[in-house]
Amino acid sequence: MDIHSHAQPARVRVTHASLDLTLDFEAQRADGSVRLDLERSDLSAPLVLDSQALQIGRVEGADGTPREHQLGALDPQLGSALTITLLPGDRSVRVHYRTTKDTQALQWLAPEQTHDKRKPYLFTQGQAILTRTWIPLQDSPGVRITYDAVIRCPAGLTPVMSAEQLGQGQDGAWRFRMQQPIPSYLIALACGEIAFRPISERCGIWAEPGEVDAARAEFEDTERMVQAAEKLFGPYRWGRYDLLILPPSFPFGGMENPRLTFATPTVLAGDKSLVSLVAHELAHSWSGNLVTNATWSDFWLNEGFTVYFETRIMEAVYGTERAQMERQLAIAELERGMKELEPWQQVLHTDLRGHHPDDGFSDVPYTKGALFLTRLEELVGRPRFDAFLRKWFDEHAFQSVTTADLRAFLARELFAGKPATGIDLEAWLEQPGLPADAPRPATASLARVDLEVQRWNKSHDADALLTDGWVTQQWLHFLEGIAEGIDGSSLRALDARYRFTSSGNCEILDVWLRLSIRCSYAKADARLEEFLMQVGRRKYLEPLYKELARSPSGLERAKAIYAKARPRYHAVSQGTIDTLLDWK
Ligand code: BES
Ligand code: ZN
Repeated sequence: MDIHSHAQPARVRVTHASLDLTLDFEAQRADGSVRLDLERSDLSAPLVLDSQALQIGRVEGADGTPREHQLGALDPQLGSALTITLLPGDRSVRVHYRTTKDTQALQWLAPEQTHDKRKPYLFTQGQAILTRTWIPLQDSPGVRITYDAVIRCPAGLTPVMSAEQLGQGQDGAWRFRMQQPIPSYLIALACGEIAFRPISERCGIWAEPGEVDAARAEFEDTERMVQAAEKLFGPYRWGRYDLLILPPSFPFGGMENPRLTFATPTVLAGDKSLVSLVAHELAHSWSGNLVTNATWSDFWLNEGFTVYFETRIMEAVYGTERAQMERQLAIAELERGMKELEPWQQVLHTDLRGHHPDDGFSDVPYTKGALFLTRLEELVGRPRFDAFLRKWFDEHAFQSVTTADLRAFLARELFAGKPATGIDLEAWLEQPGLPADAPRPATASLARVDLEVQRWNKSHDADALLTDGWVTQQWLHFLEGIAEGIDGSSLRALDARYRFTSSGNCEILDVWLRLSIRCSYAKADARLEEFLMQVGRRKYLEPLYKELARSPSGLERAKAIYAKARPRYHAVSQGTIDTLLDWK
C-alpha cells in the first residue's frame, strides 16, 4: 500500500506507457498523449491514475472512441485521481494532455541559464512523486512499467531519455524505448543543445558542447567504476551507462535515471575529487533501479544500500583511504544534522503518514542506512555479506521491496531463520538516533587534519599550518573543524593564504560561504550572491539561505537575493526555500 499514490494497482495495473509528446519551448509546454497498457485483475474496476497540474483532454480506447473519465478533488501534495471507466474489452487507453505552468517536474530554461547560453533547455525530475506532473500514470514505486516515447522538438536541440535511443526518424521525431520494467519516478527526459563523447564501449558523456570535454575528462574513470561494481554485485543489466551534465539549476547532485544518470555541473571540480557522485548514481543501477523501494517509507532501502555500495566502488577504484575519508565526513554531517531532525525523521523505516515523501529526506536514509549495512558486514564478515547482497539483488531483480522483505531475507540468509544476534534490528530500523554499535571509521588523513585544526585553534596563524598535498576531503574536514569559534579576521587571514572565496570546488566553496555568512565576512558577499544566482542545487541553497536567515539583516539579504534568483530555480528547490523564507 502506497499512501502517496491514488493508484489501485491490485485491481488494474499499468504495464507499459507509450508517450507521444511535442515540446514547445516558446509556450514552455509539452503537448501530446500517453497510451497505457493494462493488466486487469478486477474487470469491474476503473483505472485510477495520478495526475497533477496537467490539463487532461480526451481519453480514448484502443479504437479511438472516448472513455468516460473524472478528475477527483485536488490534494495539494498528491494531485488528483484521474478515474477512467473501462469497457470490458479494454486492454489499453490513451490519454491526451498537456503540461501547465504548474508542472513541477519540468524546468524550462532560457538560453542564459545554460552553460553555452545559446539554446533553451528542458529537463525533468521525477523522484519522488513528480512524474504525475508531466505524465498521467500510476505514480507509485511499487508499479513497474516498460515505456517507449516519440519526442518532437525544434531543430538544433537533441532530446535524451532514461531509455535506449532509437534515433531520429524521417519525420524529424526522436524515438526511445525502455524494455526493462522500471518505477515511474525513473522516466526522464532532457532536451537542449547537447553533444556526446564516448568513454568506453558502453559509457559516455552528454553535455553542452562548451563543457563536454571537461566533463569527459572529469569522469573518465566511469567504465572502471562499472567494472568494479559488476565484480562486487553482479552484471550491469541496463546496457549503456551514460552521464548527462545538466545546467547549474539542476536541483540535485545526481539522479539515477536508468542508462542515463543526470548530474549537476557543480561536481566538475577539475580534479575528480567529487566523482563519488558517479559511484553513487551508478550503484543505484542495482540498489534502486533494479531493486526498488516499494513505498517512500522504504526510501532508505534505495539510498542506504546505495551509499554502502558507493563506498565499495570508491574503495575498489580509488583505495580505502579515500573511501573511508568520505564516510567519515558523512558521519560527522549526519551527527550534526540529526540534532535538528524530529524523532520520526531519524528512523530508517519512516512513518510518512501525513507527510510528503520529501519530509523524510535527510542524511538519515543515506548515512544511517549505510552504517546499518556496514555494521552487518562487520558482524558476519565481508565474504558472507557480499554473497548476501549479491543474492538480494539477484533474487529481487526488477522488483519493488519493503523493509519487511529485507527483514525476512536477513533472517533467512544471515541468521539461519533465527532471531538476529549481535545486532538490534528493531533499534536500527524502527527507532530514532544512531545505535551505539554504529561503526566509526577513522582515517590517518583526517587525523592529520585534526592536528592542524588544533594548531589553528592555538595560534590562529594561517601560515603555520601544514597543508601540503591536502585533498578536497581534508580541506572540508578542516573547515568544519574550525567552524566553532571562527571570526571575520580569521577568515580574512585564511582567505589571504588559501583563496577560498575564489575556490572552483563547490563543496569547499559551500562550507566557506556558510562560515562567511556566520562571521559577516564581507569579502565573500559578491561570491555568495553570484553562487546563489547561478546554482540551483538544493543541497547548497538550503544551508546557505538558512545561515542567512539567522540574523535579521541576513534575512533581508536572503529575501533580496531570492527575489532575483527564485525564477531560476527548479520547483523542487523553490519549494524548499519558499518554506524556509516563508515566501509568498
Ligand atoms: N535519488 C537521489 C536524488 C533524490 C532523492 C531525488 C529523493 C529526489 C528525491 C540521488 O541518487 C541522490 O542521492 N543524489 C545526491 C547525491 C549523492 C552523491 C548523495 C544528491 O543529489 O545530493
Ligand atoms: Zn541516491
